Amino acid sequence: MNKVIDFINTNRDRYIGELKTYLAIPSISALPEHKDDVRRAAQWTAEELTRVGLEHVRLEDTPGHPIVYGEWLHAEGAPTILFYGHYDVQPVDPLDLWETPPFEATVRDGEIYARGAADDKGQIFMHFKAIEAHMKQNGRLPVNMKVLLEGEEEVGSENLDDFIRAHKDLLAADVVVISDSPMFERGVPSICYGLRGLAYFQIDVRGSNSDLHSGSFGGALHNPAMALAQILAAMKEKNGRVRIDGFYDDVVELTEEERSAWKQLPFNEKQYQRELGAPKLHGEAGYSTLERIWARPTFEVNGLLSGFTGEGAKTVLPAVAMAKVSMRLVPNQDPDKIAEQFEAYVKKVAPKSVEVTVTRMHGGRPWITDYHNDYVQAASRAIEQGFGQKPVFNREGGSIPVVFTFQQELGLPSVLFGVGLPDENAHAPNEKLDLGNFHNGVIASAILYEEIARIARRA
Ligand code: BES
Ligand code: MN
Ligand code: MN
Repeated sequence: MNKVIDFINTNRDRYIGELKTYLAIPSISALPEHKDDVRRAAQWTAEELTRVGLEHVRLEDTPGHPIVYGEWLHAEGAPTILFYGHYDVQPVDPLDLWETPPFEATVRDGEIYARGAADDKGQIFMHFKAIEAHMKQNGRLPVNMKVLLEGEEEVGSENLDDFIRAHKDLLAADVVVISDSPMFERGVPSICYGLRGLAYFQIDVRGSNSDLHSGSFGGALHNPAMALAQILAAMKEKNGRVRIDGFYDDVVELTEEERSAWKQLPFNEKQYQRELGAPKLHGEAGYSTLERIWARPTFEVNGLLSGFTGEGAKTVLPAVAMAKVSMRLVPNQDPDKIAEQFEAYVKKVAPKSVEVTVTRMHGGRPWITDYHNDYVQAASRAIEQGFGQKPVFNREGGSIPVVFTFQQELGLPSVLFGVGLPDENAHAPNEKLDLGNFHNGVIASAILYEEIARIARRA
């Protein structure tokens, strides 16, 4: 193992240069004009997997963006890791808030700035380098490795579930490894054992055939922006509780064990509030901030659009209003059931004086695992060696819907070992990745394969 770690330490600077090339490809899955770029990133990924020594590397076309697959299966009798991640990235707007261009990766103060640096190109690249180090130094990996990378994670993994269901043999493994989450805090490495799910919708409200003079018509019709505001306002109590009928029916309550473990985490609500620039924290009554983010469901407005929003004033009665809304879900809420409940509730609270349409967008299941399992404990030892410190166990508020699918369709446990940081601006301007964490992460990943190799295979 020391040879492998020496190799990683010696090659530290080369990694940064290569990562910059990867980050330069604008693989924005949400925007049709970047379709070819997403494909280029898939090709770059595939070439890289071949370079580091994987076999049978290929692009698997889907109705959307390609999946990249590669494997190395010569560790006879050893467990098989299915490594999952995504090479697509979020859009970059608002562009003018970036200090350096999002696709010209720049190193400042030990951080590499670029779209995808943390979410998720930088973190999957960390594993490419861990694989490379083993292959270059030993000519082999200690475990069998299957790598599955998608280009549609940021748009709801539209085609991945079908691919998994159609390729159960190809993807058969013992454990899934994922690096696509932040660590708890700078200097506090962590392993994530729970993710929230998601149910996403668009609400359209129409009040008339066209925009109208607000003097001639105002007062005679229900303003759709106002009607939409009323619908949205009906979603939550003042104390943060969601009012959708049945919304909490399947929610698994926090255990006392979790509540007291989380109280021990180095988390300061006051500092959190100050860093976010929020006048005051706000959330469901009776729960701490970590509990609200990790273990409680929420309803959020993601975007709002209606009427005149340009400079100056325009006296207009808008014809339509639109909102994008989503709910983060926790075990055991089911996004399909929540969708039914949400639609029924909108129908119940919507004024009859406007026409309201709800469109379902993507959804995903929440996930939780018992962190006492062997694979998580193996990851814990790997992180301790890579970062010089034992990890804490946390849940996360974000969603990686495929983690549930791996469990459901392939019967696989997942280990979520992320090296991002909570302030690394994922999905926002000036996304970045700490290069120290990246480097320790390469070492920890290389050790993780070794640690997993020591676990006896399941029958
Ligand atoms: N890497 C994130 C998921 C994540 C975020 C995990 C924060 C842990 C903490 C992933 O790329 C992501 O953004 N997922 C989407 C899923 C959605 C598009 C279905 C999310 O959470 O909004
Ligand atoms: Mn991600
Ligand atoms: Mn993301």
